[in-house]
Amino acid sequence: MTQSVPKVPFVDLTWQHEPIRDDIHAALTAVLEQGDFVLGGAVKAFETAFAEATGAAYGVGVGCGTDAIALGLAACGIGPGDEVLLPANTFVATLIGILRSGATPIFVDCDRHTALIDLAAAAAAVTAQTRAIVPVHLYGQMVSPSGLRQLATAHDLLIFEDAAQAHLAEREGIRAGAVGTAAAFSFYPSKNLGAIGDGGILLTQEELIAQTTRSLRNYGAVRKYFHTEPGGTNSRLDTLQASVLNLKLPRLPGWNQARNQIAQHYDQQLLALREFGIIPMRNDSGAGHVYHLYVIRITEDCPIDRTALQLVLQEHQIQSGIHYPVPCHLQPAFQFLNYQPGSFPQSEALCQEILSLPMYPGMTTEQADWVISAIAQAVRQEPICEETATALQPQ
Ligand SMILES: Cc1ncc(COP(=O)(O)O)c(C=O)c1O
Repeated sequence: MTQSVPKVPFVDLTWQHEPIRDDIHAALTAVLEQGDFVLGGAVKAFETAFAEATGAAYGVGVGCGTDAIALGLAACGIGPGDEVLLPANTFVATLIGILRSGATPIFVDCDRHTALIDLAAAAAAVTAQTRAIVPVHLYGQMVSPSGLRQLATAHDLLIFEDAAQAHLAEREGIRAGAVGTAAAFSFYPSKNLGAIGDGGILLTQEELIAQTTRSLRNYGAVRKYFHTEPGGTNSRLDTLQASVLNLKLPRLPGWNQARNQIAQHYDQQLLALREFGIIPMRNDSGAGHVYHLYVIRITEDCPIDRTALQLVLQEHQIQSGIHYPVPCHLQPAFQFLNYQPGSFPQSEALCQEILSLPMYPGMTTEQADWVISAIAQAVRQEPICEETATALQPQ
């Protein structure tokens, strides 16, 4: 029995892969023929191109975004005894990366309307041990660069951006990855710039940090069989992955623009549903928001709850997601950090009310309208009309 394809999947990569399918095959074949599988030419080319595209001086390709955080922080000299600020609502990898560097993570609450770290709360969390802040440019929107720099200057903090969801995002004329001393990106396939497997990169403005990360990703070796970094591991961006990323990078601005247009359409159409308590996350950065995710809040004014709404979407063959349902500080694995429910009210409330709608370049206006009409129908608690029922017939 074949499974029916959803009318609106959460993410669909076929649209971006189809036009470059032959180029991808040719690039992979070239690596196969050259045989430079580890730290080959495509990796170096991508490191340079991606750093240039963001405004950073150096790029060091690693195995995944989590490794970029862990190795990058260590290369910045952050480790045991240092406190590092991070938002409570982020993907758990931000926390794991900080813990792996040996530093102590200190959670900070977020702004309910943007889901980004609350910089006033961050300032209040600074102690004599605080060495760094890891802002997360969540859902594709950057934390204010000027706000971050002010905070960093006032408290002598290093800024290490988690830009895993913000490839080529921009705010106040600065791109994600160029705000602070260093930044981490992920190339997980569904990211705005995705590989065909795992991948990541550390960007930095400082040569020494780049050099140290290069050594850390390669068993702590500065040259073959000569090891200077005890924290070294094996985490290199694969040449095959880099060859695909090189093909995709020039297309990324267009893909981001397409995401932004879909988001604007969602925003406009959802205005009519504000009275039902459906509120999109606020965009404070205009065209610079790259909408890795399009997230709405189902507030207490909404006549139906999130689970019911998701069910209606499912009935309309629309996939949705929650990013993220449990905040990091309340995850069972991290109880040893001793945070309690109620520690970060805004983040905890957000986890209950957020819903991510389908978002990917190539998504059509008709698909977005289908999503909106399903939400409208759900919140107005209308029965499914005949036309909808017919449209719902498996294709
Ligand atoms: C905010 C954030 N940080 C870090 C990561 C980790 O990246 P990776 O999955 O490549 O290790 C991700 C990716 O999922 C992420 O969304």
